[in-house]
This record gives sequence, structure tokens and C-alpha cells, in this order.
Amino acid sequence: MKILVTGGAGFIGSNFIRHLLRSQRDVEIVNFDKLTYAGNPESLADIASDHRYSLVCGDIVDSRIVNDVFTKGIDALVNFAAETHVDRSIEDASPFLRTNVLGTHCLLEAARKFHLPRFVHISTDEVYGSAPADVSFNEEATLDPRSPYAASKASADHLVSAYANTFGISAIVLRCTNNYGPFQFPEKLVPLMIANAREDKPLPIYGDGLQERDWLFVEDYCRAIALALEKAKSGSVYNVSAGMPQPNLKIVRTILHHLGKPDSLMRSVQDRPGHDRRYALDCSKIQRELGWRPEVSFEDGIRRTIEWYQANNEWLEHARTGEYRNYYERHYTRRAETFSQ
Ligand code: NAD
Ligand code: TYD
Repeated sequence: MKILVTGGAGFIGSNFIRHLLRSQRDVEIVNFDKLTYAGNPESLADIASDHRYSLVCGDIVDSRIVNDVFTKGIDALVNFAAETHVDRSIEDASPFLRTNVLGTHCLLEAARKFHLPRFVHISTDEVYGSAPADVSFNEEATLDPRSPYAASKASADHLVSAYANTFGISAIVLRCTNNYGPFQFPEKLVPLMIANAREDKPLPIYGDGLQERDWLFVEDYCRAIALALEKAKSGSVYNVSAGMPQPNLKIVRTILHHLGKPDSLMRSVQDRPGHDRRYALDCSKIQRELGWRPEVSFEDGIRRTIEWYQANNEWLEHARTGEYRNYYERHYTRRAETFSQ
């Protein structure tokens, strides 16, 4: 089976590619990634020479390169490619609309044109908006995106559903809560707090720090995606979560405790505009229909994550400085040109 993974040089995509290559022998993966600031081929250095894996540097908005890849034959697509950081979407929503909406549209057009058998779209819990206390949204809940990032992801979800309905695209949508684990770019809460705490830098806590997120270890999510890719019925939407929303302050205190650092490193800073208070999902559907369950407890996952960042200082430094990009951009841009001839 030949799988096109878009955004595979990012956090979840790189973990997913590694998971597939380790768990399935008969698989070929084309990683199609623009290598934005968040895309780091060093996250896949250990499997870069695997003959089943290749990287194409390209933009999902560019129909010429997308069609080139499809022309070479694809059995399934998993679309991770996106702009993903809420704070950046508040600064400037344009790249979010471009990649998350127009890019998804471009992939759907290619799927239609080339009769792609399977299109797995990676969405987010943020499309449902903020969940009232004691409410967990199921897949039937109304979409109520409340940040530019969430609005762009919800638009993409609607496009996927419209293309499935109108053109019969065989699409599956996964909406997951916040992931954490190795290879996450240090702008998101968990890696930022680990990186800052290690250097005794202040840890910015937005507002009162009592906003809740439902943290899922990335390997658990990768298993869910692989299951959906293999078994989900076309047209299905699945929520994925650990089922245990926790306040940000608790997450940050846990990280400080593991690193032996004082709580005094935490600094309350101005809240994010329009900050969603709580994300919570009912994920009983994927448990019932696909038999998926989270396997890694938060205590275990956060310990493994901290240990990974401690052992991978060079990855962290290169991600922070963008140092890996000069070499890889030259190297892989050449390959993409070769690919599209
Ligand atoms: P990430 O920011 O770490 O990686 C995104 C990847 O997409 C990068 O490799 C980047 O280079 C690539 N990319 C961006 N624009 C592109 C374009 N125009 N063409 C091709 N590639 C492009 O993201 P992530 O955290 O791994 O998230 C992956 C997906 O999962 C996203 O769709 C996101 O919305 C969704 N998601 C993430 C989380 C989370 O907690 N990280 C939670 C729920 C849903
Ligand atoms: P983040 O990792 O950006 O994910 P998302 O906003 O998509 O859920 O943020 C997780 C939570 O942590 C969110 O409530 C915002 C908060 N946060 C901080 O308090 N300080 C920070 O420096 C960051 C990056 C996030």
C-alpha cells in the first residue's frame, strides 16, 4: 500500500510515519511537506534511508506538484499538513486560510480527479469550540470554531464532507484533542515549558491557567489514525481523546516537578484573546467501532516526553534556531524539482 502523508515532517505526522514503518512491513510512504518553520526532516532522520520512505518538498496548495505525486499512484492519503498554532493565527490568519482551507481543497480536487480510494483528514477538537463544564462533545455536536485556526480547520472539515457528499470521495475525518510527545515544535505548551524550565527561564501562563485541555500521548493517536486508515467506514467522523481534561497549571506544575524546578518560574501573562476555556470530547464512537483505547497514562507519557527532550538537545536547538532548514531546503527542493519533471 502506497500512502501519501502530507505534513509528515511535523510533530504528529513524523510520529505517524515512524509508527507505520515500524508496524507494517508492506507499506510505502511518500511524505509531502512544505518544510515550514514547523516541518523538520531531522524528526525522521532515523528512517530517512528506509527504502519504503521518501520525502517530497512541496506545498499542498500547489496543484501541479500535488497532481504529479498522484500521477505516480497513491492508495491512500493522510492529511496532516496545516498551520497549527492558535497564537500565530491571531497574529496573521492568512497562512492558515491558505494552507488549511485552500490546501485541503487542492488535495480533495486531486483525490476526485485520480479516484483516490481513501482520504483521511486530520482535524481537531477545536472545531467544536469551548466545552461547558461537564460536557464532552460527540461527533454530532455543532461546529463552533472560535479562533482563526479553528475556523480554518472547521472550513476544511466542511469541504471534506461536501466533497464526500458531492463527488463520493472516500473520506474519514479524525478530530483529536491536544497531543504531546517527542518531536513537538517548542511553541506549544508542553515542549515550551520543558525547554524554558530546563534553562530556568520564565514559563508564561496565559490568564489564570485554569483552561483545560485533554492531553493524549502522540503514540496513542498514531495507533488511532492507523486503525481508521485500515478499518473506518467511508464518511465516518471520529473523535479521539484521552478522556481526562486537565488545567494548564497542573500540566506545568507536573513538568516543573519532574525537572526538579520551582513553581516560582511560572509567570502569569496576558491571556490569549478569545481563549477557549475547555476542550473535552466524547470518544466512545472510536472505542466502540474500531476498538481503540488510549494506552499511555499521562504520568507515563509526560515522563517519557521530558526524558526525550532531555536526551535530544540538538533537535531542540535546531528546531528553535531553524538551523536544519538551510541544508534540507537546498537538498529536498532539488528532489522536488526532479520529482515534478
Ligand atoms: P505541526 O505544526 O507540527 O506540523 C505541520 C506540518 O505541516 C509541518 O511539517 C509543516 O511543514 C507542514 N505544512 C504546513 N503547511 C504546509 C503546506 N502548505 N504544504 C505542505 N506541508 C505543509 O502540526 P502537528 O501538531 O503535527 O499537527 C498535525 C495535524 O494535526 C494538523 O492538521 C493539526 O491541525 C492537527 N491536530 C494537532 C493537534 C496537536 O495537539 N498537535 C491536535 C489536534 C489536531
Ligand atoms: P497550545 O499548546 O498552544 O495548544 P492549543 O491552544 O491549541 O490548545 O496551548 C495549550 C494551552 O496552554 C492553551 O490553553 C494555551 C496555554 N498556553 C499557555 O498558558 N502558555 C503558553 O506559553 C502557551 C504556548 C500555551
